[in-house]
Amino acid sequence: MASAHRCTSMATKLLMSVVLLVVLKRSAGARSDDSPCGFPAIFNLGDSNSDTGAFPALFPAVQPPYGRTFFGMPAGRQSDGRLTIDFMAQNLGLRYLNAYLDSLGSNFTQGANFASAAGTIRRVNGSLWTSGYSPISLDVQIWQLQQFINRSQFVYNNIGGIYREILPNPENLISKALYTLDIGQNDLTVGYFDNMTTKQVEAYVPDLMERISSAIQTVYNLGGRYFWVHNTAPLGCLPYALTFRPDLAAAEKDGAGCSVELNAGARFFNARLNETVDRLRATLPGAAFTYVDVYAAKYRLISQAKKLGFGDPLRVCCGYGGGQYNFDRDIRCGDKMEVNGTSVLAGKPCEDPFRSVSWDGVHFTEAANKFVFDQIVDGALSDPPVPLRRACQAKGQ
Ligand SMILES: *[C@@H]1O[C@H](CO)[C@@H](O)[C@H](O)[C@H]1NC(C)=O
Ligand SMILES: *[C@@H]1O[C@H](CO)[C@@H](O)[C@H](O)[C@H]1NC(C)=O
Ligand SMILES: *[C@@H]1O[C@H](CO)[C@@H](O)[C@H](O)[C@H]1NC(C)=O
Ligand SMILES: *[C@@H]1O[C@H](CO)[C@@H](O)[C@H](O)[C@H]1NC(C)=O
Ligand SMILES: *[C@@H]1O[C@H](CO)[C@@H](O)[C@H](O)[C@H]1NC(C)=O
Ligand SMILES: *[C@@H]1O[C@H](CO)[C@@H](O)[C@H](O)[C@H]1NC(C)=O
Repeated sequence: MASAHRCTSMATKLLMSVVLLVVLKRSAGARSDDSPCGFPAIFNLGDSNSDTGAFPALFPAVQPPYGRTFFGMPAGRQSDGRLTIDFMAQNLGLRYLNAYLDSLGSNFTQGANFASAAGTIRRVNGSLWTSGYSPISLDVQIWQLQQFINRSQFVYNNIGGIYREILPNPENLISKALYTLDIGQNDLTVGYFDNMTTKQVEAYVPDLMERISSAIQTVYNLGGRYFWVHNTAPLGCLPYALTFRPDLAAAEKDGAGCSVELNAGARFFNARLNETVDRLRATLPGAAFTYVDVYAAKYRLISQAKKLGFGDPLRVCCGYGGGQYNFDRDIRCGDKMEVNGTSVLAGKPCEDPFRSVSWDGVHFTEAANKFVFDQIVDGALSDPPVPLRRACQAKGQ
């Protein structure tokens, strides 16, 4: 996972924050008239697929070459550039989301991001140092959301000043905001990477669903009404999963070279998630839920990569070791190696990340994230089929 620390001089840091500010400002595009919901903010819960800086705010920084394609430097994201959530914010005319935990230079006027890389729906036994999973599980993210709502209202109303320029106006915000959720991939790997069978993984999926239900119920009780729920990716098409489960990678494969078994686990999770969202629709009056089939978008990209102008979707852009996947579980993207007494970059990026699907074996490139965004933004893969901008109208029952 995370790699070595590196010291950066004060001057470089200052320069980087200036560059980042300019980049982030540019992103806050004009709001189109075509915004029937007028979402004033996004509050996002999730894992590394949508973490914009929580994990590196607490743990080792994201290293170069992460972020190079768009931000020109590491920007808290596990990709070479923007994530799907960034394109979503842009589509809604909102700023890119800052991580709630990022205390430096953050602007929460249009939302906050609670997602953490390596985050799970249910707590994983053992600390980050032993398990590799983030302590910021979904229940912790919900506590943080409660704290955010509570504290930002207090600070906005009672302290004011500069805080009115970096915190949201609490009026109506909670009920008008869009709540997005993208989590579950790591809950699947918890079992699979512990050598569980798909049957054993499936056995704990109902527990995951109860926790998602209860998290959404809590947000509803706080006043949240608009929910946009991503399902989980085809795990069996991701190089790290194929590397951590060589037995399943060697067993039955589909036409795209993905593990049939691992994808069956992901699809089981997704079918239960679809049912869970459906039940919430029935029990939470006045709420609007959009279930988004991100699995289908990602699978389309991977199975039709060549036709879509991408290279081998199972070949990692920023990796090490060559071979089928160019992925080494011990030498990841951005990791350095001692060669004859000098430290050199071993996990190097490819020449053409814009033609790669997999950035680092776990996460997608910006180009792939953009493809996924384009697939889901108009509602073609959603239930009900509403566009992102109309997600407040998703009252299909
Ligand atoms: C964590 O450990 C407790 C106590 O041994 C156990 O009951 C629980 O099932 C474990 N959780 C997971 C996710 O393995
Ligand atoms: C919100 O803040 C108030 C006042 O500080 C406190 O009494 C209340 O318990 C807090 N609620 C939550 C959910 O933290
Ligand atoms: C925070 O973002 C909002 C919306 O983009 C902007 O109006 C405001 O000026 C920003 N605050 C600061 C301190 O830059
Ligand atoms: C899973 O099985 C493989 C092959 O038997 C073994 O090498 C590996 O250590 C096992 N992993 C765990 C976490 O038990
Ligand atoms: C989700 O369930 C609904 C029925 O509630 C079904 O119509 C829809 O096809 C399902 N979506 C996916 C992506 O499986
Ligand atoms: C490391 O040093 C040895 C001996 O001088 C040399 O043969 C080898 O090519 C060097 N390796 C690299 C990668 O430079």
